Amino acid sequence: MSLATPRDLFLHELSDTISAEHIVLTMLGELQHETSNADVKAALKHHESETKQQIKNLDKVFKQLGEKPEETTCHAAEGLKEEHDALKEEDPSPLVLELGNLAGAAKTEHYEIASYTALVQMAKDLGESDVVALLKENLDQEKEMAKTVESLAKQVGKDAKAEMKELEQAES
Ligand SMILES: [Fe+2]
Ligand SMILES: [Fe+2]
Repeated sequence: MSLATPRDLFLHELSDTISAEHIVLTMLGELQHETSNADVKAALKHHESETKQQIKNLDKVFKQLGEKPEETTCHAAEGLKEEHDALKEEDPSPLVLELGNLAGAAKTEHYEIASYTALVQMAKDLGESDVVALLKENLDQEKEMAKTVESLAKQVGKDAKAEMKELEQAES
């Protein structure tokens, strides 16, 4: 498809975001298996069901626009997944994997926030006000998840610090 108009770009970015959400969905499943923290697991599970709904919202956006998504791959989301796979290949300790995965999840959510912020703006600029609410719904979920992941990372970091202190004291 040639990208001649801002509307073409909007449709292309929407297709790209569907691809990103499918990649994110796979990652959310993997991360649930890798965490040993019940709060992290619950947050990932919750966002997994939100992500399924986000994909449905994007399908609805295409329907309302009278268009079909193009087959495309979101290279950025693929890259984020590769970062995760590379970390795992480095044989991290369980704590390092936990912290690394939370940092990666925060990066992913911020990427999604940027994507939906741009899509909402494009929809407004193109006068497609019907689809703004659907895109904003996804955007708000990403913002919420970014906050959740960041506070979980803080908590896990704090626990790790306390654990290391205890170890040091036991050794001295
Ligand atoms: Fe998402
Ligand atoms: Fe997300």
